[in-house]
Amino acid sequence: MLSRGGDSGNKNILGSFPQQFENTLAGRDIISCRDFNREDVELVFGVAEEIESGVAGVEDALRGKKVALIFAEPSTRTFQSFYVAAKSLGADVISIHDPSISSMAKGETLYDTVKMIEGYGVDCIVLRHPARGSAKFVAESTSIPVINAGSGSQEHPTQALLDTFTIKKKLGRVDNFSMGMLGDLRFSRTIPSLCYLLSKHDGVRIFFMAPELLQVRREVELHLSQRGVVFRKVVKSEEIREIMPELDVLYVTRIQKERFPDLTEYEKVKGSYIVDMKLLSYGKKELGVMHPLPRVDELSPEVDSLPNAWYFEQARNGLPIRKALLYLILGGVA
Ligand code: NCD
Repeated sequence: MLSRGGDSGNKNILGSFPQQFENTLAGRDIISCRDFNREDVELVFGVAEEIESGVAGVEDALRGKKVALIFAEPSTRTFQSFYVAAKSLGADVISIHDPSISSMAKGETLYDTVKMIEGYGVDCIVLRHPARGSAKFVAESTSIPVINAGSGSQEHPTQALLDTFTIKKKLGRVDNFSMGMLGDLRFSRTIPSLCYLLSKHDGVRIFFMAPELLQVRREVELHLSQRGVVFRKVVKSEEIREIMPELDVLYVTRIQKERFPDLTEYEKVKGSYIVDMKLLSYGKKELGVMHPLPRVDELSPEVDSLPNAWYFEQARNGLPIRKALLYLILGGVA
């Protein structure tokens, strides 16, 4: 049973939900961060905070619901946190995690896979797929809500939500701060989603720090320009050191080797940046370091023990955020 926080006189979202808070996410697809408005984001954060602090018991909120996880690309954190989130809300989970042992390996199309899973009475599909546009395609092929858990290099909206939630918790705000994004900004899907989400906030300055080959995509630049977000591209590594003192948060990404159309291009940029004690020594004392993980060699383990290392806490935040999303989308009210 969902506990009613109002009983204790404490106003909280779950306690007064849905009477006082319109659940703008009920039944919705989560395809792109472009589709969120700030109220949606704050609703997810509010519910995530309440779930985390235990003010509302949501253990059985999705009892009787079925969530399908279709993952046609490697995943550790996103798959596991969706799995644990759905189970801990009482939902049943069916999953395809290794396409090589599903009928996808025999040539079954994504459309047929989705139609078949839909036929099992599933209430929501969480999809990770290597193709851009895959989540939208599936959403258009089914009447049940679809959550994009990574669509090729295009977007990863639930990661951006947990990233922004982490910034809010650690910095105390998501407005008026400076963020450096360092690494593979071109093939990363977390970067566009994060930029789209940050563009809904005020006074965010973004420094895109990467060699030309890995610089942020034009579509992201255009979006930020249209929304009036101040950003700057920083290409030379000497310049990165000069920018470091300006930053409140440094978001690092792995080079997405698997997405390079030409591996000789990958050879040119591999190992071209590393975040270590030396680089951090140019930054503010309290600079927060984020990374969606997995890391390869771009983030030195020597950083792990510093208070600046936010990335493991960032990964943990995936759980309350994905619980809140499933709860809101599936309209889980007792
Ligand atoms: C990211 C992804 O899959 O895009 N990982 C994640 O979901 N935490 C980043 C990456 O793979 O480098």
